Amino acid sequence: MTDPTTLGLTVLGLETSCDETAAAVVRLDADGGVQVLSSVIASQIAQHAPYGGVVPEIAARSHVEAIDAIAAQAMSEAGLAYDDLDGVAATAGPGLVGGVMVGLAFGKAVALARSLPLVAVNHLEGHAVSARLGAAVAYPFLLLLVSGGHCQLLEVGGVGACRRLGTTMDDAAGEAFDKIAKTLGLPYPGGPALEKLAVGGNAERYALPRARLGHKDCDFSFSGLKTAAARIAEGLSTEAERRDLAAAVQAAIARQLRERTERAMDLYAQAHAGEALRFVVAGGVAANGTVRAVLEEAARARGFSFTAPPLAYCTDNAAMIALAGAERLALGISDPLDAPARPRWPLDAAAAAANPSHLAGRKGAKA
Ligand code: KG4
Ligand code: ZN
Repeated sequence: MTDPTTLGLTVLGLETSCDETAAAVVRLDADGGVQVLSSVIASQIAQHAPYGGVVPEIAARSHVEAIDAIAAQAMSEAGLAYDDLDGVAATAGPGLVGGVMVGLAFGKAVALARSLPLVAVNHLEGHAVSARLGAAVAYPFLLLLVSGGHCQLLEVGGVGACRRLGTTMDDAAGEAFDKIAKTLGLPYPGGPALEKLAVGGNAERYALPRARLGHKDCDFSFSGLKTAAARIAEGLSTEAERRDLAAAVQAAIARQLRERTERAMDLYAQAHAGEALRFVVAGGVAANGTVRAVLEEAARARGFSFTAPPLAYCTDNAAMIALAGAERLALGISDPLDAPARPRWPLDAAAAAANPSHLAGRKGAKA
């Protein structure tokens, strides 16, 4: 392995925790600069679309079929041989465990065959560093992680140092987008489809409930909104009505994300008085234009800098996994070859254990 203090680190990242088989090569320079040398994503959306959501068994099989070629393509697009790498980083959870095992086993095989260090990366840590793929963001920062499986506000103090300020009591924001989109007859994944439908819609036409109004914490809930939207969707007949409901749903989700983030910003600003205040939004829902806009406005109004990943790195990708791995390797952290695949793996283990605010099983947020 090269010395990161003088030469930087080049890392192969692998991501297979949901419905994307992804591989990427990222270079973390000694001065902290980041270069994505390649980022390849094979989406399984077409295979899952007939079922209206991700089918774990289909996902796992599809990852097995794709991973060799996708990793080879990432290496060739980077113009590198395996011997040019300083390490391999693979998502080890949380996620659909059958898929996680595929990428992790592939990463272990490369590490073993090429005598490279392995980093077993928490997928959420990947999202947490994803904004760095497009811009320099120093630690610490306040993070809103909003994806299909997660909806959390976290204080990120450094590599592996996260404190949870809020989480969802039921669905994740992306899950809410996906489920409501389904009731509007939109294809999976629903978030991008709903955003498209909402263009030009009147968000004021339908009144939707606001969640947890009596609570002053930073937790989220989308189940009431989901039920209300589904009831309205049943009675719609025209395209204009569907467009207006889509706009109202998008505005309602964005508003809740904004309100909880503002609370978290106030808490964060108190704890970091006199310091630079940084806010980062990451995860698939960060690709939504309305969500980005309201959060950027909230950040500016409270004296926070605002950073979101480039659109390509909002949804699942392997560049963020490679970067999270490189940051760990730069600190001398790696994992043994028997590192387990973990279906659940909270970033802030202490908060998750003390306050398991989500339900277990299929209904719960995956962290
Ligand atoms: O980060 P991601 O790719 O996977 C997880 O780790 O969950 O996020 C996928 C989620 C899906 O729920 C998808 O509907 C949502 O992100 N999403 C969006 C948009 N693009 C993706 N939601 C709203 N608007 C979008 N443009
Ligand atoms: Zn993700």
